[in-house]
Amino acid sequence: MSGSICVPGDKSMSHRALIIGALAVGETRVTGLLEGEDVLATAECMRQLGAHVARQRDGTWTVRGVGVGGLTEPGGALDFGNSGTGARLIMGLVAGHPITATFIGDASLSRRPMGRVIGPLSDMGAHFHAREGGRLPLTLTGARRTLPISYAPPVASAQVKSAILLAGLNAPGQTTVIETTPTRDHTERMLRAFGAEVHAETDKKGRLAITLTGEPELKPCPIAVPGDPSSAAFPVVAALLTPGSEITVQGITLNPHRAGLYTTLMEMGADIEIMNQRDEGGEPVADLRVRASRLKGIDVPPERAASMIDEYPVLAVAAVFAEGETRMRGIHELRMKESDRIAATVSGLRANGIKVHESDDGMIVEGRDGEVGGGGHVMTHMDHRIAMSFLVMGLGAQKPVTVDDASMIATSFPDFVTLMRGLGASFAGRSQ
Ligand code: S3P
Repeated sequence: MSGSICVPGDKSMSHRALIIGALAVGETRVTGLLEGEDVLATAECMRQLGAHVARQRDGTWTVRGVGVGGLTEPGGALDFGNSGTGARLIMGLVAGHPITATFIGDASLSRRPMGRVIGPLSDMGAHFHAREGGRLPLTLTGARRTLPISYAPPVASAQVKSAILLAGLNAPGQTTVIETTPTRDHTERMLRAFGAEVHAETDKKGRLAITLTGEPELKPCPIAVPGDPSSAAFPVVAALLTPGSEITVQGITLNPHRAGLYTTLMEMGADIEIMNQRDEGGEPVADLRVRASRLKGIDVPPERAASMIDEYPVLAVAAVFAEGETRMRGIHELRMKESDRIAATVSGLRANGIKVHESDDGMIVEGRDGEVGGGGHVMTHMDHRIAMSFLVMGLGAQKPVTVDDASMIATSFPDFVTLMRGLGASFAGRSQ
């Protein structure tokens, strides 16, 4: 594989640019927005809630916001498709408005737990009617003004943190989220850029307390969305595994809460050069030069999990090509994603003859030191990252790897196949 590419805009930041832009008074311009299905679903939901969201001819997006507290009741159900981020963040938003909205999603999203946001948002004054176990579809009636709370989520989740902070925008006072393990901080950074007061402070127990002062007046702020490190992970791992490769990925965010995969790959011996480090739109950004490398298995520190939570499936694929075992622990949250990603990764690896040990909160992959047969047929369970990870495995393996369904890739990386082909990868496909 060779060449230089830009990957699509960061998914987390794209959702937030549309959501926070809708709460500012005036017009926010967004460049580099990810035009994947997840983010397009959020754009449509924000329109239904009264914001004016439009794509301009030059590819920039504009959001004309209605001000904090200014959203209106949607005429129909809000459909989030496959996106947990869209659904949970917008629950936080609706919780702070005296309106009723019904949240629906696809089969994968309808299986995912919403109790983690229903609990704290109910404490803040919102009312929920959800299916057994707190699943979609659900109907939410928000409060005219939310109650400011202090809350320590039992799981490390930026979606939960963000939902509470967004609900706290309409609270008279300070809303605090206390994190034992810090998670991605794009919501905090963006709220500050729009003029909100958000403080983060480490307490005596070493936990991070994030405090938002409610009822701010948010002012529009241009947003340049950098490349998504979670999408870049696929071409990067593909290049590492494919002998003779050298590629450059330009302009991805290396926010420390997102860069765990790259640290891990470098510890495994990956030849990754971080170049042109700069600050863009309040986020650290860099280019990566990646050369095919001989990798060795390592023990991935569990405390790093939050900073690479979406990258374990593709890390497991890199681990297959490494010499020795790679141990991944403290990743129970992977079972709550678009699919149960531990189960899906383990069965995909086994379908390709790889030895892997599965536990409740981890997996141990036995590396084959570059000698990977491949040839397996992998079930993706409506999960874009499982599909891309195993296609990457096929690029480095002796025989191609087949995935049952590649359509979900469009949720986060619509140009995946085109971009990878441009670097020299080959794919064969058929529609069913
Ligand atoms: C995200 C947070 C993470 C991540 C997801 C995007 C976000 O989920 O897995 O892909 O944008 O806040 P959790 O908050 O459930 O950890």
